[in-house]
Amino acid sequence: MVDTRTQPESRSGVAALRFSDKELYSLAGKYGTPYFLVDEATLRKKVREIEQGFSEFKGVFRVAYSVKANFNPSVIRTFSSEGILFDLTAPSELQFILMSGGSAEEVMYTSITETLAEYEEVLRLGVRKVVVASYNGLLNLQEAANKVNVTVMTMIRVNPEVHVHAELRGSMGHGKFGLQFNGGREDSAYHVLKKVLNAPGLKFEGFHFHLGSQIEDPSCYAEAIEKLEAFILDSRRQLGDFAVKTIDIGGGLPVSYGRKVPSPKDLGNKIVGQLNSLVESIGEKFTLVAESGRFLTAESTVLVSRVVNVKSFGESKYVYIDAGYHLLLDSALLRHEYPVEVVPGGRQSPQKVVLVGRLCDPLDVFPTSSRSRLAGAEPGKLVLFRDVGAYTIVMNMPFHSQPRPYVLMRNGQGSFVVARKRQEVDSLFAEEGGDCLPN
Ligand SMILES: Cc1ncc(COP(=O)(O)O)c(C=O)c1O
Repeated sequence: MVDTRTQPESRSGVAALRFSDKELYSLAGKYGTPYFLVDEATLRKKVREIEQGFSEFKGVFRVAYSVKANFNPSVIRTFSSEGILFDLTAPSELQFILMSGGSAEEVMYTSITETLAEYEEVLRLGVRKVVVASYNGLLNLQEAANKVNVTVMTMIRVNPEVHVHAELRGSMGHGKFGLQFNGGREDSAYHVLKKVLNAPGLKFEGFHFHLGSQIEDPSCYAEAIEKLEAFILDSRRQLGDFAVKTIDIGGGLPVSYGRKVPSPKDLGNKIVGQLNSLVESIGEKFTLVAESGRFLTAESTVLVSRVVNVKSFGESKYVYIDAGYHLLLDSALLRHEYPVEVVPGGRQSPQKVVLVGRLCDPLDVFPTSSRSRLAGAEPGKLVLFRDVGAYTIVMNMPFHSQPRPYVLMRNGQGSFVVARKRQEVDSLFAEEGGDCLPN
């Protein structure tokens, strides 16, 4: 147990999310390190920020949470109480929503696999809004709707094939996601639209696209909307009038990670005028949906680890911590830098600091830059990784048979509560096959 009385009372961190050093050390003493710490107020604030970004839109605007970014039940419950929609990709995510007290009515189901069994399962569980992205998927959805005997509001996922400046791109040259607008084959948005408009059990709802994640130049959205508008007007000329009730512009809102990136307001300023013109040109006050995983969750969460060793090697000081990329996968996969700081900081030394994790893998070296504050790293001190709420906790791996750590939450009342218990070694042993060993 760390004696918190010896820790300074200074406040850690920049930006909005602040925990006192005393709070961080006290939680480390109680729960051990590493641990994730989520701030409920920040999750809620992020919903407001997106809504404000689109406040000038003429029609209805809805935020959807992409559950893939963080499916912790406390996080889901927080967003559910905000009354936002959920973007889901797997039946098990739907079960998480339902078990967390959410409703299937708030779900937009966007599958990658689009199988009959999957569609049947989610329709039976109450989903009524589905995004299709292939002709086979459409046939499966139609069959599932007939089997379950329900009408499904059907969206078509298009791939507008625009250039995207982002950490992860999913449009130009990436045929995995969405349909091309045109083309003589079955797998085109035009062909699928024609089919949906005449399919019993399906009701055409609108269009969806998703361009990528951490999109730092919003002009790709403008380009995609322009292409979509042309497609809608052209399809109406060929197929007759059809209503477009919803347009979903997907995710991709960027997170600062210590750098300057466009805000939702910047994105809104760039495209809301264009979307309002689209309302005029297609003659409908459609519902606009922006999905977000990263922006809604990243800044809400820190990972708190501890320095366990230091070593000089050449001109460098190697700082070993008790976390690793098994907790922050993108630091190895994408060489993604999460802003790091030593708590409390100390005096700058001339030695270059190399921050390394506890995994026996040369990839387990954290990317750091001048944005990170590593001065004063000594055994026993805490090391804080910021903005880690998206695509991290959901990818925790038990490398070296390490149980998954605690996820704690500062709730709306300011109390620190457990949002996920630490996994115990014996339960990990059983899950990994220990309970399959013959006696
Ligand atoms: C269809 C869809 N919508 C939204 C998102 C969320 O993206 P982000 O976390 O960048 O907002 C994703 C992420 O992969 C996605 O595939």
